[in-house]
Amino acid sequence: MGIEKSILVILHILGASIWIGGMLIMALGVLPKAKKANDASLLKDYEGSFHILGMIALTMQFLTGFRLAMIYAGGMKGLFDFSNHLAVLFVWKLALLILTIVLFVFFKKKTLAKLTDENVASASNMVWNITIFAIALMVLGLGFSRGII
Ligand code: HEM
Repeated sequence: MGIEKSILVILHILGASIWIGGMLIMALGVLPKAKKANDASLLKDYEGSFHILGMIALTMQFLTGFRLAMIYAGGMKGLFDFSNHLAVLFVWKLALLILTIVLFVFFKKKTLAKLTDENVASASNMVWNITIFAIALMVLGLGFSRGII
């Protein structure tokens, strides 16, 4: 593997670890605790600490993922040649990433802004949707080099 691809893969896996790890901690750790204690501030504080890091990770995923996909597909043209399975994986990953960014911003600006100690559970769907998309992005990534999907 060339030096460029090696660096891109390392950065991509680092970004994926931050994003998936951060969301799993929110879904499996912070959310249940906040619901049990009826304490919206637990979720708001965690998201506050994670927001910038999460956005940096998503940006890094876009940049490194785009370039990696170009390398796999043999250039920009290959990315939109849908007779090629790699182009299909690329478009799915891009669409899911855009959806993730939209949901994550909506989660902060709308869901958390309206969250009170009385309705902590109303954040559950959003947290779990974003987490499941994160895992789906990982599984789709396995398609490029390992042919798992
Ligand atoms: C939060 C967003 C993302 C996550 C969590 C994620 C996760 C992953 C993971 C875990 C792998 C490693 C698979 C393996 O070891 O075989 C991977 C590979 C890959 N991802 Fe992503 N990804 C994200 C976004 C993107 C985007 C937006 C693109 C392109 C549009 C992309 C393109 C790729 C490519 C081309 C590979 C193959 C790299 C290789 O194994 O050599 N990813 N992704």
